[in-house]
Amino acid sequence: MKAAAFLAVATLLSTALHAQSAPPAVRLHNGASQLLVHEQPYLILGGELGNSSAGTAAEADTILPRLARLHFNTVLMPVAWDEIEPQEGRFDFTIPDHWIDVARQQHMHLVFLWFGAWKNAFSEYAPPWVLADTARFPRVISAEGQPLGILTPLGDQTARADAHAFASLLAHLRERDAAEQTVLMIQVENEVGYLALGGRDRSARANQLFNAPVPAPLLDYLRAHPAHLTPRLAADFHPDGRTWHDVFGTDADEIFMAWHYGLYVQQVAAAGKAAYPIPLYMNAQLPAPFELAGDYPSGGPHPDFQAVYRAAAPAIDFYAPDIYWSNFAEWIGRYQAAGNPVFVPEARLDVAPANALYTFGEARGFGFSPFAVDSLPDAPANALPDASPDPAHAASQSSAMSATYEMIAELSPQIVDAQERERIRALVLHDDNPRPSQTIALGGYLFRAALARTWPTRMLATTSGAMMVLETAPDDFLIAGSGLTVSFLRDPDTDNRIAGIASIEQLTYTEGKWTTARVLNGDQSDQGRALLMDAHTPTVFRVHLYAYPAN
Ligand code: DGJ
Repeated sequence: MKAAAFLAVATLLSTALHAQSAPPAVRLHNGASQLLVHEQPYLILGGELGNSSAGTAAEADTILPRLARLHFNTVLMPVAWDEIEPQEGRFDFTIPDHWIDVARQQHMHLVFLWFGAWKNAFSEYAPPWVLADTARFPRVISAEGQPLGILTPLGDQTARADAHAFASLLAHLRERDAAEQTVLMIQVENEVGYLALGGRDRSARANQLFNAPVPAPLLDYLRAHPAHLTPRLAADFHPDGRTWHDVFGTDADEIFMAWHYGLYVQQVAAAGKAAYPIPLYMNAQLPAPFELAGDYPSGGPHPDFQAVYRAAAPAIDFYAPDIYWSNFAEWIGRYQAAGNPVFVPEARLDVAPANALYTFGEARGFGFSPFAVDSLPDAPANALPDASPDPAHAASQSSAMSATYEMIAELSPQIVDAQERERIRALVLHDDNPRPSQTIALGGYLFRAALARTWPTRMLATTSGAMMVLETAPDDFLIAGSGLTVSFLRDPDTDNRIAGIASIEQLTYTEGKWTTARVLNGDQSDQGRALLMDAHTPTVFRVHLYAYPAN
């Protein structure tokens, strides 16, 4: 058969195969976060593009094949309002369409980031016909009485226009992608919030609403869901008060903005869902310690105020943290505690391999995505001469990320299964960790990890290490990671026996199967006492343990 005819038949077959499947969906399943694609759990081994890397169609041709070679399976990319609706009512989907085509050729998926009225609080991605018409599309007013480059969420016509553009994008996607499901989900706006002194819009309309009674739907929701109130929200909540200040005290400005961003986004998301019901989420810029609302975007979906968003925006499926701070696990935990499935849409690239293991292992998340991944150079075999300021550093980041994603991809059936059975744990260690070791418990054993050291000088061999541990059967574990030395103890909460290592095998994945590459003994297992990982290369081990009575 000629290539073109073969391709046409293959496309028809794949369309027929997928035609019946439900759109992508997100769920919590026995505590594990799952994204269903063609009704099967899918792990997003993702990366978000830099802001100026997806503004042309042609960039897809270089960026996506490179990221595919680096084992990324999903790319998060901006789709901007001014790009698809440059003139009011005239839509142009040429750029996202081409990215979809190239993603399919590369067997990749996409998550679109809808840069509508707001991107990092500001409104730079709204079309010029919106930005120029401040009467129809009003701006926020600062505490000094000046209009800022931020569209106010109180603009009724802005919300209608944004919702119309978003719904047009989703209607187009439904036509083009419902069968293939190349686009998995959409982020609605980007890191919304009021970013200026005082933390609240001071336009006349905002001031008038701020001094009026708090709307009954918000009060009713908060009264009906006391468990959704975080300690911070509950501490100053006076439901019998009248104005925002009476009811919410010191956080009134931020909560007022959260409610109005929530109502606005609800209009956009509901219009989109009506056109094509795929998962819609919002991301949040997280405050640094001691920052005030307005130093960070005030009224964004911060975990303390998730209840306000849930009341205002039921069309949003979940909220996700952009984690650039070092307390990665803590932020994940706060979003999880607020009932969200775990997905990290933005994170630091330099520590991404370790945090990816944490996200899928310890947090049982469905996706992880460091930021600016288009800055990663190609895998060594395909690399062109490198123009980056520190090519050696960039190349080592690239290979660490690529090797980690390759390993997770190969292990993904086991990871999804262990996530569902709650038989997976993970940990991350850095050389600035206040304690030299960290321990996790699973299957009756304790796994105590310290950073790998050189032999015989016992110097630290790496600045960080991470592992995930999967229990596959009683006493049998898969351990995947790098940079750690792991010793094994019996968990005293299980019994008072003593743990021993029956065997450690280093595994390799070829042609879809795991096989034993080496059996580790003697010097390679510290004389049968520990699992010694390579300092940098992520590797999968099968470890069989046993327990014997103390006397
Ligand atoms: C968070 C934003 O969401 C991204 O678009 C980007 O601006 C990064 N911060 C910082 O570079």
